[in-house]
Amino acid sequence: MAEAKAQKAAGTAAGTGTNRREFLASFPFVTAAWVAMTGALAGVGAATLRFLYPNVLYEPPQQFKIGLPTDFQVGEVSTAFKDRFGVWVVRNDEGFYALITVCTHLGCTPNWLATENKFKCPCHGSGFYSSGINFEGPAPRPLERAAIALADDGQIQVDKSQKYLFEQGGWDDPSSFLPFTA
Ligand code: FES
Repeated sequence: MAEAKAQKAAGTAAGTGTNRREFLASFPFVTAAWVAMTGALAGVGAATLRFLYPNVLYEPPQQFKIGLPTDFQVGEVSTAFKDRFGVWVVRNDEGFYALITVCTHLGCTPNWLATENKFKCPCHGSGFYSSGINFEGPAPRPLERAAIALADDGQIQVDKSQKYLFEQGGWDDPSSFLPFTA
């Protein structure tokens, strides 16, 4: 009788050991399953967020103020509004004009090279004088100008929704140039 009890106890102990080994052996698979499930849930969460907050292109405003006429020096090509509004503002002896920062070849954004006194397009090498006239490279025509005027508060206001093209005589339009009045 005592012997039978001892055998049963030994069997139970052996059984418990087997269960523990099986459990430990299955641990990597359980972990992998959890990792996979967490990854899948994260993917669904990210897709949901993209759906709720889709990529939106925020166009810069077409009309904006750039400061007082006295903020600009004669001969200055201001690059301060290039990134935000996509224009250069040029102050010459007579007044102001705003050049749109789009190359007339294939639409890249030229850079103002102050030491060389020209706009230079990094894509195919077109060059433009500070007036906007093209003089080198493949650009077929000058840069475009935007409407420019004095606002009621005395600031210069640029309106890119109105564009003036040299080859169409647009630069003769009074709205393409703001004379300086002290
Ligand atoms: S896009 Fe400017 S030179 Fe080609």
